[in-house]
This record gives sequence, structure tokens and C-alpha cells, in this order.
Amino acid sequence: MEITWLGHSAFEIISDNGVKILIDPFISNNPSCNIPVEEIEADVILVTHGHADHFGDSMEIANRTGATLIGNHELSLFFSKEGFDTISLNIGGSIFFRDIKITMLDAKHSSDIDFMEEIVPGGSAASFLITLEKGCKIFHAGDTGLFGDMEKVIGDIYKPDIAMIPIGDKFTMGPFEAAMATKWISPKIVMPTHYNTFPVIEQNPTVFSNFVMQMNPKTLTVILNPGETFNPSKEE
Ligand code: NI
Ligand code: MN
Repeated sequence: MEITWLGHSAFEIISDNGVKILIDPFISNNPSCNIPVEEIEADVILVTHGHADHFGDSMEIANRTGATLIGNHELSLFFSKEGFDTISLNIGGSIFFRDIKITMLDAKHSSDIDFMEEIVPGGSAASFLITLEKGCKIFHAGDTGLFGDMEKVIGDIYKPDIAMIPIGDKFTMGPFEAAMATKWISPKIVMPTHYNTFPVIEQNPTVFSNFVMQMNPKTLTVILNPGETFNPSKEE
């Protein structure tokens, strides 16, 4: 399995069986992503909410690759009206895409499709838990504030192995709240996201990793550079 951070909240995961999972593919307008959108491949694209920095190039990539688009009910309706192959989920629900289980979980944020001429309501913002073929569970928090169910539901019930958590502040949690979320979710590995894309979300990720070390030393913080690939199986 390979995880590549494309900058901001965008990740590409290639599963052991070669399924390409793309999350929040904000590529062409993403100042921290140097990869041309034409080179991005996907079998399935997960969109956590309607904001432009997450919805990104999802339709363009799906159009070229034939990837299935997965989002909340309202985003999925939007995709299907545009003619795309789409699966609608809502908070707490799971589906299988090939051998990969995709669960939609909560996030505390908003979700309007905010880049259309007229703003389109985009349902509720979500996070995703991706369970790969061999059982490895990857949690992508989307954009969110800190909330108690990160401990009781996401941590205690779903038990992710790897978590991607926003640390940029202003629109999401900052480093302290993100470290608290990491403590509650208690993954083996955490990756900070949603920072240093724009000046308003500038953060030093080592501030976050230091908080994590203090609060929950069992969790390893992996700080990637945009474009960098991480192979968790090599870590164990
Ligand atoms: Ni957002
Ligand atoms: Mn965002």
C-alpha cells in the first residue's frame, strides 16, 4: 500500500490490489501541488465536502479516468446531474468499492458547493474511513473542528490505523486541537494536512508533532512534503 500526499487535503492511496483511491483532489488550483491534473489517475474519488479546496478537480479527473465519485447525498446528486457515476453515502453508512470498504463519518464543518456562480447547498461535511483489503484502516478527517465523538465513535469503535488530520487553524482545528483529536482517535500513524497551502493556514508541523508526542507518545507523526509517498508497511 502506498499513500501520496498531493498537498492540502488531497491524498492518493494505492491499495495492495492496485485500487487507486483519490481523496479531495484539489490539484490544478492547489499552490502546493506540482503534479499536473492530467497525470492524476483514480478508480474511485472521495469528496469530504463541497468547498473548492476539496471538491477540486474531482469531475475533471472522473471524466478522464471513469472513476466513481463518492460523496454525501447532496454532492452525489450534483455529480449524477452532471452525468457522473456516483455513490451516495451518509454519516455512519458504508459501501464496498471492489474489496475496499468506505465508511462516511462525521465532521464539524460546512459543505456548500461554493465555486458555482450561485452557491449550491452541499449537505453536511464528512470524513471517511477506508478499510483496505488486508484490514488496514485509514481515516481522513476532512475539514473539521474538534468534537467528542472522535474519541467515543471514531477512536473506540472504528479504531483507525492511520489518520489524516487538519492542523491549519482558521477553517479547521489548529495544531493543539489536532493533537487532541489524534489522542482521542489514537491511530498508530498520524499525518498532518490542510496547512501551508495558503498564508492564512501557515503552520509549523513540528508544533503539532510535539503536542502529539506529549499527549499520546504511542502515535507516530509522519510529516510528508507535497508529492511525497509513504509506504506504511515499511514502517512496521
Ligand atoms: Ni472546507
Ligand atoms: Mn478546506
